[in-house]
Amino acid sequence: MSDLPKSAGTIGAGNMAEAVLRGLVRGGLAADALIASDPDADRRTYLAKTLGVRTTAHNAEVVRSSDVVVIAVKPGQLETALRNLPTEPSPLYVSVVAGRTLADLRALLGAQARVTRTMPNTPALIGAGITALAVDPQTGDSDLDQAEAVLRAVGQVVRVPEAQLDAVTGVSGSGPAYVYTFVEALTDAAVREGLPVDIARSLVVETVLGSANLLRETGEHPAVLRDRVTSPGGTTVAGLAALEAAGFRTALLGAVHAATARSRELGRKP
Ligand SMILES: NC(=O)c1ccc[n+]([C@@H]2O[C@H](COP(=O)([O-])OP(=O)(O)OC[C@H]3O[C@@H](n4cnc5c(N)ncnc54)[C@H](OP(=O)(O)O)[C@@H]3O)[C@@H](O)[C@H]2O)c1
Repeated sequence: MSDLPKSAGTIGAGNMAEAVLRGLVRGGLAADALIASDPDADRRTYLAKTLGVRTTAHNAEVVRSSDVVVIAVKPGQLETALRNLPTEPSPLYVSVVAGRTLADLRALLGAQARVTRTMPNTPALIGAGITALAVDPQTGDSDLDQAEAVLRAVGQVVRVPEAQLDAVTGVSGSGPAYVYTFVEALTDAAVREGLPVDIARSLVVETVLGSANLLRETGEHPAVLRDRVTSPGGTTVAGLAALEAAGFRTALLGAVHAATARSRELGRKP
């Protein structure tokens, strides 16, 4: 595992850029080794004030002063953001831009540019994200290690072939929205059974968090942990039978399939 770079910057200073910069500061990089560019002066002032990082309106300045440059603009802003960047020095680019391929990035930055592509998710905003890093034959191991070190500042990292990033988008990219829908529905269900809404919400959020932590810490298969709370003829099995009858698993299979397909479709658009 590689160490953090000596300097890093972001092109775009929105939510994802802020998450990465915040994570890098938390990880021990000096704020004056970090720089963010954005056309929005308010955003620049906000980041300079809250994190102490340097800011600029010029993307080229980020490239000139960073070992690693995180590309964090919206997909439709990519062409403009990467126009006329210097080719020397040549930083490592780490793109978090959804749906824009390594081929797109190399076409915009030059075939010789050192480029990696990633897919983070919104819990990165509190350092609890999971990011998939695309492995491809043109990206060297040391560049992948360096990109991974930067992304670890906002959570965990897994490596997948680029072709699997659409499925990653369907699972962990869109996943927080599935979880929020589950939490909302379970809270409504608790209120329907007579619980006060604030108590219902705490019960549900802590149940989701605690169950996820138990899974992570024990490393057990979910079915094993489920069996431990499911006594024969008891309450849990009655609830589980109702979930199965309503097609809970089928609904999740369909959701991930639809989101993955939509990600593929968006990626094909010019
Ligand atoms: N948020 C997430 O959880 C998440 C998860 C996975 C992937 N991503 C990806 O991360 C990227 C950034 O998302 P975000 O949520 O951080 O978006 P965002 O908050 O809109 O940030 C993008 C920033 O880039 C600025 N910008 C626009 N044109 C620019 C240019 N030419 N040069 C430099 N900066 C420019 C924007 O300024 P204006 O507002 O003035 O346009 C904005 O401040 C997206 O591509 C998204 O697909 C995000």
